[in-house]
Amino acid sequence: MTPYDCKKMPSADGCWRPVRLVEGLVQPDVPVPQGSEACVVVQAGKIAWIGPENAVPAAYATLPVHDGRHMLVTPGLVDCHTHLVYGGERANEFAMRLAGASYEAIAQAGGGIVSSVKATREASEDELFALALPRLQQLLDEGVCAIEIKSGYGLSLEHERKQLRVARRLGAHCGVTVRTTFLGAHALPPEYAGCSQAYVDLVCEEMLPALVAEGLVDAVDVFCERIAFSLAETEQIFQAAQRLQVPVKLHAEQLSNMEGATLAARYGALSCDHIEHLSATGIAAMQAAGTVAVLLPGAFYTLRDTQLPPIEALRQAGVPMAVSTDHNPGTSPALSVLLMANMASTLFRLTVPEALAGITRHAAQALGLADAHGLLAAGRPAHMVLWPVQHAAELVYWLGHKPDCTVVRQGRIARSTVFPPQDMSHAL
Ligand code: NIG
Ligand code: FE
Repeated sequence: MTPYDCKKMPSADGCWRPVRLVEGLVQPDVPVPQGSEACVVVQAGKIAWIGPENAVPAAYATLPVHDGRHMLVTPGLVDCHTHLVYGGERANEFAMRLAGASYEAIAQAGGGIVSSVKATREASEDELFALALPRLQQLLDEGVCAIEIKSGYGLSLEHERKQLRVARRLGAHCGVTVRTTFLGAHALPPEYAGCSQAYVDLVCEEMLPALVAEGLVDAVDVFCERIAFSLAETEQIFQAAQRLQVPVKLHAEQLSNMEGATLAARYGALSCDHIEHLSATGIAAMQAAGTVAVLLPGAFYTLRDTQLPPIEALRQAGVPMAVSTDHNPGTSPALSVLLMANMASTLFRLTVPEALAGITRHAAQALGLADAHGLLAAGRPAHMVLWPVQHAAELVYWLGHKPDCTVVRQGRIARSTVFPPQDMSHAL
């Protein structure tokens, strides 16, 4: 696979036809009767018009035509929770868990997040970039057009900066929307053992203000858990974020109920993620604040968790549910958003429309990107995927299959099955 280089991607301007629309993910300008063929017009890198194939306005008649081959069209996928930039891997812990050790026990014995911190600190910025690029390519190949990348394996100003800079570079290099999240409070760095308060003060008073000033932080996250940071420490960090006018989100109620979601909702959190142990109070608070529930079935599966997130209660409360890879070297070494949609349906009982909204609309909302991503509609930047499948359910049904899709990202053809290979050799 040749690495993506956005400077080499051809323009997607033109009429994409005939295609079929996936209900709920596309807002046509003119209604398209069920089962009818549609056309998506891209002009100057934006969606200009969507409607029935036989009703394309004359103004677009002279644009080039891209053969849509009756493919199903969705918005670009959004992966709203990843820890994509890190050194090393943790296959040894996988083996330890198989032998009976728990995630918490491994962390308390100095493994877990802290072992990735060591490998990340030892890697240079260029090395981290080279390690993360093929991971990102896997996701882009599947149709991802926006992705969140967290820090949290540096745990010092220098090394958190390095991770966030790599995240920004990945976005610029690949021509993909990257939202960076500062997760300085992911674990206590070894040099602060027993001095949690001093580290939280450092995060709030030095690390966060410096990284925000450098334009490296789109949101702030905390791992609020008994093996990580307390509710009071989480609130101190949220206050610092609020002073700097940076939105917050939370790794909440993954291993126990800390009532972190209730706190996060009070700070208008974009999302609360994991939430297997989420309480009724937390759900009500998230509903009132418009906070998205991000489901991470890869971590649930890897840790062989048995506590299911309260899907029915979230559904009844009308809390939007997103689904993400949570790609990280410890609990979710997953590189497929579609596989996560499958697992969210099979393990958590999401319906197909819920799973599809989870990796598009609701994931975009979880990143504060609802205006630009996750929904196909006129006036928005052109991020879309054409899928060679018959039914929308196939996007969730196949287990580990990545359909050979055509991807339009930032108004450019990032991956194509439509053109002969010689025209698209850089992307195939
Ligand atoms: O989202 N829960 C905390 N953070 C990550 C795991 C990080 C790691 O184990 O390296 C998660 O699952
Ligand atoms: Fe995570």
